[in-house]
Amino acid sequence: MEFRSLVSSTEGKMVEYWTPGQVSFFLAFFFVLIAWAYSEYLEYKKRSSSLKVHSDVNLVDSGSGPIKEEDQTALLEGGLSKSASSKFHETSVRANLIRFMKMDESFLVENRMILRAMSEFGATLCYFYICDRTTLFPESTKNYNRDLFLFLYSLLIIASALTSLKRHNDKSAFSGKSILYLNRHQTEEWKGWMQILFLMYHYFAATEIYNAIRVFIAAYVWMTGFGNFSYYYIRKDFSLARFAQMMWRLNFFVFFACVVLNNDYMLYYICPMHTLFTVMVYGTLGIYSKYNEIGSVMAVKMVSCFLVVFMVWEVPGVFDLLWSPFTFLLGYKDADPRKATLPQLHEWHFRSGLDRYIWIVGMLYAYYHPTVERWMEKLEESETKKRLSIKTIVVSVSLVAGLLWYEYIYKLDKVTYNKFHPYTSWIPITVYICLRNFTQHLRNYSLTLFAWLGKITLETYISQIHIWLRSDVPNGQPKWLLSFIPDYPMLNFLLTTTIYLFVSYRIFELTNTLKVAFVPNKDDKRLWHNCIAGAAICVSLYFISLTFLTVLHALA
Ligand SMILES: *[C@@H]1O[C@H](CO)[C@@H](O)[C@H](O)[C@H]1NC(C)=O
Ligand SMILES: *[C@@H]1O[C@H](CO)[C@@H](O)[C@H](O)[C@H]1NC(C)=O
Repeated sequence: MEFRSLVSSTEGKMVEYWTPGQVSFFLAFFFVLIAWAYSEYLEYKKRSSSLKVHSDVNLVDSGSGPIKEEDQTALLEGGLSKSASSKFHETSVRANLIRFMKMDESFLVENRMILRAMSEFGATLCYFYICDRTTLFPESTKNYNRDLFLFLYSLLIIASALTSLKRHNDKSAFSGKSILYLNRHQTEEWKGWMQILFLMYHYFAATEIYNAIRVFIAAYVWMTGFGNFSYYYIRKDFSLARFAQMMWRLNFFVFFACVVLNNDYMLYYICPMHTLFTVMVYGTLGIYSKYNEIGSVMAVKMVSCFLVVFMVWEVPGVFDLLWSPFTFLLGYKDADPRKATLPQLHEWHFRSGLDRYIWIVGMLYAYYHPTVERWMEKLEESETKKRLSIKTIVVSVSLVAGLLWYEYIYKLDKVTYNKFHPYTSWIPITVYICLRNFTQHLRNYSLTLFAWLGKITLETYISQIHIWLRSDVPNGQPKWLLSFIPDYPMLNFLLTTTIYLFVSYRIFELTNTLKVAFVPNKDDKRLWHNCIAGAAICVSLYFISLTFLTVLHALA
């Protein structure tokens, strides 16, 4: 950041905004891109020189160069990332790196698919940079019209109800192991409902639903508690690999977004927040995990969670004491000069504080989930009169609670509402859960279109700021809309949305492909080696770029 002013005084526009991180990224991307193109060329040459062109297996038989037995099995396994990654894991990390630097031909061919994924990922980030930080595409202003907003949302609901309503036959899952599975469709659909409103809220600047958005974020955090608790409680998989995969999922993309666009991590506050609460759930269950089956131990754990949160967020001074060493990571300075005077940790305090308790509520619900489910199963089997009356009572109580919450909490102005939010957000969430599950019918059906969107919430959340909206400057809030077709706001909306959703989905898939390639499942030693190698590459690239920029500056 300091570097920018240093360089900009002397250099032209090109270098003006470039940080060493950005230069590192473009260097690495360039290198990978060349390696990938070369690997495709080698592959092509191999194919055309081969007599039997039709399958990879034949290719191994007759291809040039001695290819070992393992490769053949790896290729026979079929899956692209699988074959590539298993190969990747067989030789040492250092040997692989050296082969890569030397552009070793067989190495490139073996890892062609990984290189392709990396190149695509890099290209996507370049697209982000172009959309957000150059003036290549124009921008337009946000415009809110309640009628249009509701029209679009309703249209989407109708369209997806007509085309994507699906029945899931998970009844057998009621007992035992697969509660995770049973809930997946519903949870993802729920995420979809909220994500669409959340995104439209940003796109149209629908400030009047601010309070609802706070509830949605709380619901995501609730799900983090719920989903992760269920997972660790049932699977008891506290392995390093699993943990690393989770962290990769949450932070891989955002890391690159921060580097390429020179943003603080806190600009994407959802990521640090979910990372924190995921780690807290992991810690809660992972510490003394042998005793998780014992009810009283669990009670102690839950109470300790409440106490820890209470200590950190409610006792003045503790929050700053605890987090100030992490300011470099969690600090945020808004590009808007009016807000730049706030303390660096303000944003983190505000965001993490709003949802400080709800993840514990999620864990509690997950803990009692099997009990409630058994109870509901019994209810479904009981006689009609009893069943109907109990259901009527549950529904009426939920409705009344929901209405009261709406009247007395939701309608408050935003500042007052935020004060109550940490203690009341469980009410609308619970009401939603009750209403969503009150008949078997409702439980079994879900809207798959919404569930599809729910799957890529993280990617749509991060991408929106840059390739759908625009922030223009580092650490800027997305105040503008990206505009491909000026003067046609609705057509532009259609076009940018389509590209944006497509790109988000690709990033979701690429994150996964690269995770399979770089975060090995069962080999912790390899995982550490990969970590160290990754860090070493980043540091060297950073210093090369720093030197480069310094020299550039000295010359100018
Ligand atoms: C744990 O929480 C994170 C953050 O919400 C989520 O991405 C992940 O899927 C959760 N894990 C499980 C097993 O539900
Ligand atoms: C009810 O629905 C919600 C989401 O729609 C889900 O997360 C929850 O686990 C369900 N509860 C039961 C008891 O099935």
